[in-house]
Amino acid sequence: MAIDVDRARAETPGCRHVNHLNNAGAALMPQVVVDAQIDHLRLEAEIGGYEARAEAAERIDGAYAAIARMLGCSTEEVALVENATVAWDMAFHALDFRPGDRILTAEAEYVSNYLAYLKAAKDKGVSVEVVPSDGAGQLSVPALAGMIDDRVKLIAVTHVPTNGGLVNPAAEIGQVAKQSGAPYLLDACQSVGQMPLDVEELGCDLLSATGRKYLRGPRGSGFLYARKGFLETLEPPFIDLHAATWTAPDRYILRPDARRFENWEFNYAAVIGLGVAVDYALAWGLAEIEARVNALAARLRALLANDLGLPVYDIGARKCGIVTTALPGHSAETVKSALRAQAINVSVTDVPSMQIDAQKRGLPELVRASVHYYNTEDELDRFCAALEKLIRS
Ligand SMILES: Cc1ncc(COP(=O)(O)O)c(C=O)c1O
Repeated sequence: MAIDVDRARAETPGCRHVNHLNNAGAALMPQVVVDAQIDHLRLEAEIGGYEARAEAAERIDGAYAAIARMLGCSTEEVALVENATVAWDMAFHALDFRPGDRILTAEAEYVSNYLAYLKAAKDKGVSVEVVPSDGAGQLSVPALAGMIDDRVKLIAVTHVPTNGGLVNPAAEIGQVAKQSGAPYLLDACQSVGQMPLDVEELGCDLLSATGRKYLRGPRGSGFLYARKGFLETLEPPFIDLHAATWTAPDRYILRPDARRFENWEFNYAAVIGLGVAVDYALAWGLAEIEARVNALAARLRALLANDLGLPVYDIGARKCGIVTTALPGHSAETVKSALRAQAINVSVTDVPSMQIDAQKRGLPELVRASVHYYNTEDELDRFCAALEKLIRS
């Protein structure tokens, strides 16, 4: 069923204040997510943090269950952490890289992930290799298949990159990974919450994500999926009394489940808020969310290109809710500030954070408008009218 946009907006307090086109930065939280967090903070203040945690046990377990439902995995395969970077890092640094091991990645890889590859190259002597994109701009699956050999220690790809509407063919990459036996780490930070994600279909061994973006959850929340049958082979880079048990003065054993990637202390208000946000997204339906997000993004790209004559930089056979452009004669930061003064929120992607993609495509600094299902056609028109005014100024 189509999204009831009026209801979605009525349930989102921010819609009364801003034209929010920065959903790939941090989307507006629905009231239920705000309330769930505030209720827990109040409980902590009233009865004590540890005591509140005990009382909220069901809601906390509910967060694992909601994520497992969304991804089609078991709760034992979910670890909750403070953001997507920590989720990704815990997985990546748990792999036992040796000199000569190969890491295969994509052109539009997330900057922090690429920094970790470069560090692994420096510290451990691994080889970092970028799989070329195909004519549509997504990672070329045949090229990936042609690069596989038994030295490939990891295939690591960003599903939806920071800098544009591209959706990489994650499930097809998963098939190559499965056939080759190479571990597959998918950065789903910007795809989670805007499209259905099923880890069986994706064929990934590890998947990292954040709460605050398309899932509309709290800041400072994230999670890692780690596949049963694989996660047991991984030794997290950091462990504590929650991740492992100290069984003898010279020994420990790791938890058998994905929580070996967690640590003991949590912002439980954020954990509870994340669980509520996932349930809220599931109640709308991720296929329904994706359909509306894609329709709005397609409309916005057409408005920018056809009505305003602006460049649109989004590539890929499959595109999502992120729309990127640039205004000749105006820096992206100036555009962002001018829009912010009119309560229109967008973000900026700078060139250093997209080294390989920017060099290949000659990209400038980008204005990034990312739509969500609660945005309206009228908001897109007002955004374009504000850009037009800037162009004429
Ligand atoms: C593709 C991608 N991966 C990972 C991250 C990092 O997410 P977090 O800030 O939650 O650590 C981002 C953040 O923008 C991102 O765009």
